Amino acid sequence: MSHPLEELRALALSEIATAQDEQALESLRVRYLGKTGSISVWSEQMRSLSKEERPVVGKLLNEVRNEVTAALAENSERLRAAHEAASLSNIDISLPGMPAEIGALHPLTQMLDRAISIFRRMGFSLAEGPEVETEWYCFDALNTAPDHPARNEQDTFYLPDGRLLRTHTSTVQIRTMQAAPPPIRVIAPGAAYRRDEVDATHSAQFHQIEGLYVDEDVTVGDLKGTLEFFLRELLGPETEIRFRPHFFPFTEPSFEIDVKSRALKGGEKWLELTGCGMVHPAVYEEVNRARGDNAYDPEKYAGFAFGMGMDRLAMILFDIPDIRLFAQNDLRFLRQFA
Ligand code: DAH
Repeated sequence: MSHPLEELRALALSEIATAQDEQALESLRVRYLGKTGSISVWSEQMRSLSKEERPVVGKLLNEVRNEVTAALAENSERLRAAHEAASLSNIDISLPGMPAEIGALHPLTQMLDRAISIFRRMGFSLAEGPEVETEWYCFDALNTAPDHPARNEQDTFYLPDGRLLRTHTSTVQIRTMQAAPPPIRVIAPGAAYRRDEVDATHSAQFHQIEGLYVDEDVTVGDLKGTLEFFLRELLGPETEIRFRPHFFPFTEPSFEIDVKSRALKGGEKWLELTGCGMVHPAVYEEVNRARGDNAYDPEKYAGFAFGMGMDRLAMILFDIPDIRLFAQNDLRFLRQFA
């Protein structure tokens, strides 16, 4: 006849083997191994056994406890694996994943990166200034009289407090000279704003690269050489460059630059590109007044400045027909530059 402990073992093992979930397993653990569980009760009873019986039953009790403990662990693992398999069965691993789209630089950024690296090679460093400006930085300090048409409300975005959205990046010339004495050799790329009628070549927001070089003995020859080198590096070695006399309040003499290159779309046509000139002495004087010194002594220093339309440069470089494309975020357009 088998010992009641052996019957208990058989029952426990078969119940554990058929448990349907973790909860059922847990109640079986409590029932057999818990403080008042049936196997534990047997250890309590050991004391009441005879000396002869005790080692035999003790050994059996140990075996039963170990087997039941092992069976509980094994089946808990079995249930966990089954549960995991069930929840994964809903996932179709043969479905193609979501493709990760890799971004690319905007054509204006690409153009700017190229421009910056060319100017860097000539020793220019980067400068910047705010897009919301005062009239003084935008006009007065740049020798632009109060009755100048650019100051008209129809042409410029004014804020209620009298400040404005800068109409050009030439403001950074003033900020740079105010902050440091000569020599200065900087470019300042950034956005500018005008109340233009929006069309294929005009946008209320556009971008410029400003340049300023002030030192002793800077001449129109340096201006010409610098911009010719820049434009040939950017647009190709066969690019022809033409300087036309022009007027800007903050330069004297002033020029406009046109380019022509068979490598560019538009072929034999001259394309108007940028304004430039030798910094007007009145600009140095106004900067000195603001600095409270004579660091920019017009008798000692000379300099050139230029302001190029970045959008226009990129349109020429990449053969883009409409300035509005830069801001529309149409992926069919942008992907062509990726
Ligand atoms: N600020 C001028 C404009 O937006 C462009 C310009 C002309 C900038 C001559 C210059 C310059 O620095 O010297 O039309």
